[in-house]
Amino acid sequence: MTKQALQMPVSVLFVCLGNICRSPTADGVFQQKVKAAGLADQIIIDSAGTGGWHIGNPADPRASKYAAKRGYDMSALRARQVVSSDFERFDYILAMDNNNLQDLQAMCPDAYQDRVQLMLDYLPEDFPTPTSEVPDPYYGGDDGFEWVLDLIEAASDRLLADIQQRLA
Ligand code: 4NP
Repeated sequence: MTKQALQMPVSVLFVCLGNICRSPTADGVFQQKVKAAGLADQIIIDSAGTGGWHIGNPADPRASKYAAKRGYDMSALRARQVVSSDFERFDYILAMDNNNLQDLQAMCPDAYQDRVQLMLDYLPEDFPTPTSEVPDPYYGGDDGFEWVLDLIEAASDRLLADIQQRLA
């Protein structure tokens, strides 16, 4: 199905469970890619969690550390929970895993369901290890945070291309 054309500014909301690991990582990575493409004034980026345990908290120190090693700054981000007005406000609402997707779909008015997708719908088809979910790294080791970054960096490039195509 052909997607609707977009109007500027385009808005993108990244969503995970706690809004302290995966979605702030996507927020930080995508902000930098958008800035590098000269589109910072035209794309609004935010992130949120389906859960509310970490509202007001900065990103998990492990997520910030591994993101900083690759040049992404998440220091200004603070966790918030998804609210019902997000579905009207954001053109793209991108869930990190299937649980987040189902929670968002359950909250989302019918008129906006096509805005809710998996982040990894934008993973390039030739990515070496195809997968549909960005796994939760919170209870795991350091490798998990690097893997989150690998997946998010790859999907961010195709997401940006999709936005540029719909703006054209
Ligand atoms: P995130 O990771 O969804 O990527 O931010 C999590 C952070 C915290 C919790 C779960 C996942 N928690 O249960 O507190």
